[in-house]
Amino acid sequence: LVVDKYVTPLLVPPAMPRAGKITLHGGRFIDYYEIAVRQFSQQILPPPHPATTVWGYGPKVAQGGPQIFHAPSLTIEADHERPVRIKWINELVDAGGNYLPHLLPVDQTLHWANPPGGKAGRDMRPEFEETPGRYTGPVPIVTHVHGAVSVGDESDGYAEAWYLPADANIPAGYATKGTWYDFFAAKALAKFGVTWGPGFAIAQYPNAGRASTQWYHDHTLGMTRANVYAGPAGFYLVRGGQGDVVLDARTHKPAVLPGPAPSRGDAPNIHYREIPIAIQDRSFNSDGSLFYPDTRAFFDGITGPFIPQSDVPPIWNPEFFGNMIMVNGNTWPFLAVKQRRYRFRFLNGCQARFLILDFNQIPGVEVWMIGNEGGFLDSPVNLTATNGNRLLMAPAERADLIVDFGRVPKGRHILANVGPDAPFGGGVPGVDFDRADPDSTGQIMAFDVMRTPGCDHSTPPRCLLLPPAPPLPREDVTRSLVLSEVTSEDFPDAPVAVLLGRGVKGKVELLPWEADVTENPRVDDTEVWELHNLTADAHPIHIHETVFEVVNRQALDIEASPEGQLRSPVGAPRPPERWETGYKDTVIAYPGEVTRIRARFATAGQYVWHCHILEHEDNEMMRPYRIGPVQP
Ligand code: C2O
Ligand code: CU
Repeated sequence: LVVDKYVTPLLVPPAMPRAGKITLHGGRFIDYYEIAVRQFSQQILPPPHPATTVWGYGPKVAQGGPQIFHAPSLTIEADHERPVRIKWINELVDAGGNYLPHLLPVDQTLHWANPPGGKAGRDMRPEFEETPGRYTGPVPIVTHVHGAVSVGDESDGYAEAWYLPADANIPAGYATKGTWYDFFAAKALAKFGVTWGPGFAIAQYPNAGRASTQWYHDHTLGMTRANVYAGPAGFYLVRGGQGDVVLDARTHKPAVLPGPAPSRGDAPNIHYREIPIAIQDRSFNSDGSLFYPDTRAFFDGITGPFIPQSDVPPIWNPEFFGNMIMVNGNTWPFLAVKQRRYRFRFLNGCQARFLILDFNQIPGVEVWMIGNEGGFLDSPVNLTATNGNRLLMAPAERADLIVDFGRVPKGRHILANVGPDAPFGGGVPGVDFDRADPDSTGQIMAFDVMRTPGCDHSTPPRCLLLPPAPPLPREDVTRSLVLSEVTSEDFPDAPVAVLLGRGVKGKVELLPWEADVTENPRVDDTEVWELHNLTADAHPIHIHETVFEVVNRQALDIEASPEGQLRSPVGAPRPPERWETGYKDTVIAYPGEVTRIRARFATAGQYVWHCHILEHEDNEMMRPYRIGPVQP
């Protein structure tokens, strides 16, 4: 399938309409939303290609024109310290009240949500060989706000707190909710007085952290890769508070950042200069439907019928790289810009792909990075002058950039990607690997620069005084944690799972999702987590509920220690990159290195930490962790 590029304008996601406000005692109010996940069709590919059936979030009572339900979805605009309450509703049903089956193949031999019960994981593989076929039952959903801090566990979207749609004819014997749903429902009732019911859950986010670029997406156990690929994701922006106070160094008065951004109730046709941009890779069948591999043969050529008597998952692929780039829900869009500064909040929303954004095809452009996942950096970083006009972004990382088109000549210019079409092993960007195909995934979007007289009234990025992130206290505890890949006993090179684990007295202990909690910080403790990456690839590691500082990275002595032992660090530790200052929630752990992060754990409860390569997260590269006392 070949499509024309740069025929569709970039969609600027509007702000999500609220269902209302709720006034608490004392007159404080909270923002209230009712947000459903539905199936609909969207023109992702340019005409005359057919529209694509996708899923996405939107306001339950949808008013207004098209694009209200969209993938990625409308942006939730939250104010610092004003809570947001959201009723998340699973509406993956048709008009006749029948559940909609999954759009994509689900591997039932992984440890997954598994509404029909029965076997899953390795135990299921022999049976699966006899009755190969895809899961055609109802779809479990649970939503996580990625980057939200100090969120109670009942509101965090725990992978086993999923639920099926209500009002669907669910076959007898199916579980309609995950094993943790009732526990969290009771907690939400006790804390907020809200009652969960069939097909929905109600979460409340305090928005207590720094102003930052967060995003929300599905998080269902063992099928997040398939659910998110089908669409459910969107931006969640927190504004205000000390962490949003940017000054002009020349005057010490508030600086002016490029704007406006979309807000609720905007008139049409506003020229926005602050825009969130989600980059996702996708592949399509010729009928416009989403393509996602339904057999392991896609990755390593191992074919069935279902890999007789082997330990290799028959459908799951260790990574997936789409052959097209979708930006805010369209393949290769363009954005008309003035010769002015713009603020773009980039998200790498890909399944497994590391992006290296490359601005070198935009003559005269100047690119500054001012923020990452946890809000503003310590100081603006001039990527043009100091980083070759490039930026590496792992899946789930965000980059708040100011892109200055002031000296860019009129005309069409391309934002390129020089990352690989394959797992990223690290190394110097652009030299150590095969770059993405320059004709397809090596291109992201176009900027159509218009001649613009007059001058820019925003503060020059070099004059921005960014609000510092308060340094975290000294650590109370240091933990050794391990990233590892497990290969097949039957097909020696084939990965069967990607695991997390820990170091115990110098030995590596690998732990599946199902194993008891091993990371149990005390409330208000600060900990350093040392992530020992023993695999050959880089993994973006994300911890829920908190944000962290990147402490440093250090090489591991891979040769010296025997199998099954932790490797010792060698040489001098390397400080974080200049765009890793402030707080982060996702960090790249490079192969053969230990990556050290420091986090404070403030809210008691049951959370997860995981690799954000979605195929890894779904096959054991996720672990529960618990802050505070053991739950009943
Ligand atoms: Cu973006 Cu645990 O997820
Ligand atoms: Cu990984």
